[in-house]
This record gives sequence, C-alpha cells and structure tokens, in this order.
Amino acid sequence: MVLISPSILSADFGNLRQEVKRLADSGADWIHLDVMDGHFVPNLTFGPQVIKSLRSATSLVFDTHLMVNNPDKMIPWFTDAGADIITVHYEACEDVVKTLTTIRNLGKKAGLSLRPQTDYKVLENIIDYVDLILVMTVNPGFGGQSFMSDQLEKISSIRKIIGNRKIWLEVDGGINPTTASLCVDAGADVLVAGSSVFKTPDYTKNILSLKNKEE
Ligand code: DX5
Ligand code: ZN
Repeated sequence: MVLISPSILSADFGNLRQEVKRLADSGADWIHLDVMDGHFVPNLTFGPQVIKSLRSATSLVFDTHLMVNNPDKMIPWFTDAGADIITVHYEACEDVVKTLTTIRNLGKKAGLSLRPQTDYKVLENIIDYVDLILVMTVNPGFGGQSFMSDQLEKISSIRKIIGNRKIWLEVDGGINPTTASLCVDAGADVLVAGSSVFKTPDYTKNILSLKNKEE
C-alpha cells in the first residue's frame, strides 16, 4: 500500500492547525513537516515550537524532514515536540550512524535523506541503522519544483538494497499523479506532496489522485 504524506510547506501558514486537521480528514496517511534552517538550504521555515503546537491537532504520524546542518543537538527538540519519524540529511551529518542511533534511542523512527546529487551507494554500510530512506526528487529548499526523473533509477537501486528489510522508501519533490506512478513503479512506498495536494481546496480528491484512485 502506498502512503501519502502531504507537506505543509504549501499550506496556509496563517492557518496551520486547521490545515493539518483538514489533511487528516481528507485521507492523508502522514503529515510531512519540512524544517529548513537557512543554511543547509536557502530557505527558512519553522521549528519545534510550531510542531508542538500542531501535535494535538491530529494523531497522524509526524514525518519530520530536517533540512538543517548538524542536526544532532536539535533531535531532542523534535522528539519532545512530538515528531514520530525524524529524517536527517546524509550530507548534513558528521557521523551519520551516531545521529541515526540517537534518534532510535529516543524511541523514534530514523530516516535518512539523500540529495539528488548523492550516490545511493553511501547507504551500503548504513542501511541497518535506518527505518526510512527519503530520496529527494528535487533540490531541497522549495516547493513547486519539477520532478527530476533521473532519480528513478536511484529509487529502483535502493529498493533492491532494501530487500526484505522493513524500511520505508519515501520520495519528495515534484510529486503529481504522473510522477507518483513512476515512483511507485520504481519501488517507492511513501509519497510526499506539497503543491499537488494544496493546488485546489479539494484535498481528498488531490490525495486520492496521487494514489491513482478516483473519489
Ligand atoms: C522540498 C521539500 C518538500 C516540498 C515538496 O525541499 O522537502 O517536502 O514541500 O513540495 P512539492 O510537492 O511542491 O514539490
Ligand atoms: Zn520534505
């Protein structure tokens, strides 16, 4: 089964609590929270206080994507705020195994994200420390960019490495009904989507169309 994790990066930031509730009522499986620090990526979004204030709006999994340098010291902030999955970037960690282990030791699921330029082979010695692999299909930083189809091969290669391990394979960036099926065919099982969920007020319809189902 494919899971849809709408990114609130494309939501109305003046009304986030209501937006999260609407997503939950519209069939979202998880809520994707894009945390950006203005250093690892050239954009700044929100931090743990905002996440904490959204926590009571839904019981859905908070899928937290940290686009920050040196995430280690921030991990407890996000576990305390109510994140369920904490995904860090391979390129942002000094000792990636240590960071992933810290997340797991705090009782949360550990995710690892790769920028489009990062070779999937870096996963070979790390795979047993991850619960989720996030393949970026755009350069991280902004919503509304075009899907990079050269990442499809990477998705298939990672699916092979995962084998029968219990690891989610998530994709993020430029996901619409067309690119969603390409990613699922390549082996993805969680789809992040910002613009294509928020493009019209009918979130239910937009989420269903990412699963390639009609209302
Ligand atoms: C980009 C973020 C994405 C973004 C996706 O750096 O990680 O989660 O919100 O937005 P769309 O679906 O519009 O490409
Ligand atoms: Zn994201």
